[in-house]
Amino acid sequence: MADNEKIKVSIDGITVEVAPGTTILNAARQIGGEIVPPAMCYYSKLQGSGGKCRTCLVKVSKGSEKDPRPMPKLVASCRTTVMDGMEVQNITSNEVLEARKGVVEMLLINHPLDCPICDQAGECHLQDLGFEHGAAATRYEFERRTFERIDIGDKIQLHMTRCILCYRCVFVADQITDKRVHGILGRGDAAEISTYIEKAIDNNFSGNVIDVCPVGALTDKTFRFKNRVWFTKPVDAHRDCPDCSGKVTLWYKGEEVLRVTARKDEYGEVEDFICNTCRFDKKHTTDWVIEGPRKVVHTSVISANHYETLKPLPVVKENPKLQEANKHQFERSVRL
Ligand code: SF4
Ligand code: FES
Repeated sequence: MADNEKIKVSIDGITVEVAPGTTILNAARQIGGEIVPPAMCYYSKLQGSGGKCRTCLVKVSKGSEKDPRPMPKLVASCRTTVMDGMEVQNITSNEVLEARKGVVEMLLINHPLDCPICDQAGECHLQDLGFEHGAAATRYEFERRTFERIDIGDKIQLHMTRCILCYRCVFVADQITDKRVHGILGRGDAAEISTYIEKAIDNNFSGNVIDVCPVGALTDKTFRFKNRVWFTKPVDAHRDCPDCSGKVTLWYKGEEVLRVTARKDEYGEVEDFICNTCRFDKKHTTDWVIEGPRKVVHTSVISANHYETLKPLPVVKENPKLQEANKHQFERSVRL
């Protein structure tokens, strides 16, 4: 096969041409929309990620043009590469939807339903998944695992009870920081994220574990309990940072920057990893060049529930891009 030759795969009846070696999940992402399987552990920027959570299961109803036999079991789309002529079913297969429901039930066996007090609520992938595929009740009768909260350094808190063992934070520490001091210790139902002899994670890129965690297991202690994310306003900003790209999202409440995060794409993956100085130490508008409001997918609770203030913030008044974005708001205040 020539280097630039593409192969055809159809997902839920939509055909796309992709490079050989592409996974089913990434082929689906090239199509986009509802047919993209959810992914709790795969992260395109982290090598070796995927294959842990099984939320991305799909049905291969035709293996390839050469061998059209269906695959005997559902497969993890983040780990299965496409073949020419392959036909895949995701939301068009009841079997997949049933299996996904089972996976969510399994993930929720130990994960507490403490969304009302969890900082990740509103941007938690498990919360979204539970909403879309969760059952109303659990069939689990045994005692759940519980853990004490652990401080990992002075800025990050680990709630092991919420961890779904996706390994993303371990890959971040391995690939983005220069020294990994945490990992998954134990196996099976004894597996847990831990630092070796409770060492603090002390590294200028360690804060990225917070952004990649799909649930609220790793949270930002500087933002803890300060606000619900849907009451905050995300604004894109940058600074000239010697250590990272300096491209971030500032989360405003009133005039205060409550937290700084990396910018995330439509799949909840960060666009550029950022350093701890940008994340934890630059919490004033004057530290940043404001670019404009962050676009949040309209289905997200963050964009759904804006409690608009009729008094524009100083940061809005002073910035032409934010003024333009808030035009309707200004017009509304004039009308009122
Ligand atoms: S702490 Fe978060 S990122 Fe790390 S393994 Fe657990 S769920 Fe995944
Ligand atoms: S995203 Fe594929 S197994 Fe987790």
